[in-house]
Amino acid sequence: MTLLDIALAVPLGLALAIVTREWLVLRGRQRQRGLFRRWPIPSISVEGLDSRFAPDELGATRAAEVSFVGRGTIRVPGGTSDAEAWILAVLAKDTRRLFEFGTCTGKTAYLWARNQPPDGRVITLTLGPDQLAAYHAADGDDTSAELYARQESRFDRFLYSGTEVESRVTQLYGDSKSFDETPYAGSCDVVFVDGSHAYSYVVSDSTKALRLVRPGGLVLWHDYSPECPGVFRALNELARRLSLQHIRGTTLVVHRA
Ligand SMILES: C[S@@+](CC[C@H](N)C(=O)[O-])C[C@H]1O[C@@H](n2cnc3c(N)ncnc32)[C@H](O)[C@@H]1O
Repeated sequence: MTLLDIALAVPLGLALAIVTREWLVLRGRQRQRGLFRRWPIPSISVEGLDSRFAPDELGATRAAEVSFVGRGTIRVPGGTSDAEAWILAVLAKDTRRLFEFGTCTGKTAYLWARNQPPDGRVITLTLGPDQLAAYHAADGDDTSAELYARQESRFDRFLYSGTEVESRVTQLYGDSKSFDETPYAGSCDVVFVDGSHAYSYVVSDSTKALRLVRPGGLVLWHDYSPECPGVFRALNELARRLSLQHIRGTTLVVHRA
């Protein structure tokens, strides 16, 4: 082999290694696996979570019928997929108190309030547009997560605003790290963690969510994916000491208290 052959072979080999790695990462994401191993949190089907989701030969049944606003082809900031929104809406059907970290457009808050029994209540916490200075990033937090958190904190009108279920929604404003969950502790049927996706916030919000949920209730997290590294890391760590399950076909992770 001549020096010229070696000079050509090295960059070619490097390029091949890079393309192979990218392909493996892409395949891993498509199959919801890490590069060389499965994602740490085990997956369940949604009917494994709740029998109301069990399909019959016609597909989803009326046990999972809800009032719904779909997302269709529209991109919604920080939004849930239609499948995720449907799951959250069905879970609200027999609940009295629901708590959400991160209101954004108010889509989940509205679907919850709309599908709850008449005496149900939704409490949703968000950083207000005039409260951005209260955001407390920690060392090691993903900077893009902070950027998104700030961009998504611009709403002062929500999907539930002006509707007949608005009175069921308690809108709280403030930074979630400073939020005192004590008044609602142990009383929430479902808690949805979907505020800042920065690692330190997911850890803090998760600790509070686990205090908020009632025995037998559910905590759900959104955006469990390597593309949201703060959420992915915090939940993979939490899964070492708590039973967590990833709902297949979604980015939702669930814990039953
Ligand atoms: C991904 S969006 C939530 C989407 C919403 N849960 C839904 O289902 O439509 C993130 C939300 O978290 C809020 N947020 C970001 N950082 C926060 C913080 N430090 N404290 C409280 N809320 C925060 C943002 O204002 C935004 O409303």
